[in-house]
Amino acid sequence: MPERSDSSGAILVTGAAGFVGSTLARRLRRRWPTRPLVAIDALTYAGDRQSLAPLDGDPAFTFVHADIADREAMRATFAAHRPQWVFHLAAETHVDRSILDPLAFVRTNVEGTASLLHAARQAWGEGRDPRFVMVSTDEVYGALGPTGAFRADSPLDPSSPYSASKAGADLLALAWHRTYGLPVVVTRCSNNYGPRQFPEKLIPVVVGRALAGEVVPVYGTGDNVRDWIHVDDHADGLIAAAERGAPGAVYCFGADNEQQNLALVHRILDAVDGLTGRDVGASRALVRFVTDRPGHDFRYAIDADETRRALGWAPRVSFAEGLAATVRWFIDHADWCRRRREAARRFEEVWYSRREAGS
Ligand SMILES: NC(=O)c1ccc[n+]([C@@H]2O[C@H](COP(=O)([O-])OP(=O)(O)OC[C@H]3O[C@@H](n4cnc5c(N)ncnc54)[C@H](O)[C@@H]3O)[C@@H](O)[C@H]2O)c1
Repeated sequence: MPERSDSSGAILVTGAAGFVGSTLARRLRRRWPTRPLVAIDALTYAGDRQSLAPLDGDPAFTFVHADIADREAMRATFAAHRPQWVFHLAAETHVDRSILDPLAFVRTNVEGTASLLHAARQAWGEGRDPRFVMVSTDEVYGALGPTGAFRADSPLDPSSPYSASKAGADLLALAWHRTYGLPVVVTRCSNNYGPRQFPEKLIPVVVGRALAGEVVPVYGTGDNVRDWIHVDDHADGLIAAAERGAPGAVYCFGADNEQQNLALVHRILDAVDGLTGRDVGASRALVRFVTDRPGHDFRYAIDADETRRALGWAPRVSFAEGLAATVRWFIDHADWCRRRREAARRFEEVWYSRREAGS
């Protein structure tokens, strides 16, 4: 097992009100019940302050409502809290939105990351074994054909403004390591699923629409392939990267779980039917194929063997159990889903009407 670093200083999580960030913050708190924990989030449409509610009242928890591109706010936050570890997750994350509004992605994902790196470099002198974990995505590698898998050293070849902005952020982080010696670790993960995922991403969209009896849009013929990992396994991988990651290294997280989109949509719909007393298979009639997303990557897959060895990490949640629990969570939290879907609705209406019209 690789050596652990000293782990006692404050922890900063950006994007902590989002899906992965809130899961990470909760798991960090479980692991270190009294360690100072600072959350930064701009609370965009994707952020939900309620996702951090279990931490409210915790004397060692601070929520900072700020934009990561605000350099003065980042400087002040680093000066006030002197974090030992930074987990940088704040980002614009939805590929479809990046196609309609790419500059918002450049601003947050590229400029925002540079602003945070700058603040970390100014604050970290001889700090105790600090780490800046740049949380990124396998989408920076672009598309695979029917075979093969991405590894950490695969060439970057992003297709969408989202993935290009994340690749830009990764490269800035690595440059801050090479140029200034900032102890950066880059992580690239496959598609996450789990509770509290914002209902513009595939799994919560399908559950929400099926519950409401609405059409379930599927791109093209639904034969694109994604590699799925439970968000808890991703969060644990990020903690392992802070504890045991080598500065300047890139780690890939995946759970060897490829699913074709249409087969996954059917599986989710059948689970919804089973949990709501409908005839299993009935909701498959809601599927409607829509014009494919421009630049849609055909397939992603991650070879995480090297990361498993280097970090002593392995995914634990089986897809069958994780998916069933996730679908049940969305059904049991129908009010949460309705509230969050309202925040997504305007974009969805514009986007899917264009897809259905073939534009
Ligand atoms: N969800 C996945 O499948 C997945 C997979 C691999 C990597 N990632 C990466 O993990 C990170 C989190 O993803 P997620 O799915 O939780 O996203 P999300 O959209 O659920 O959350 C993003 C959070 O960032 C906040 N944010 C956005 N712009 C901000 C800004 N300018 N300043 C401060 N906060 C801002 C939002 O309010 C939100 O709370 C992202 O960096 C993403 O690229 C996600």
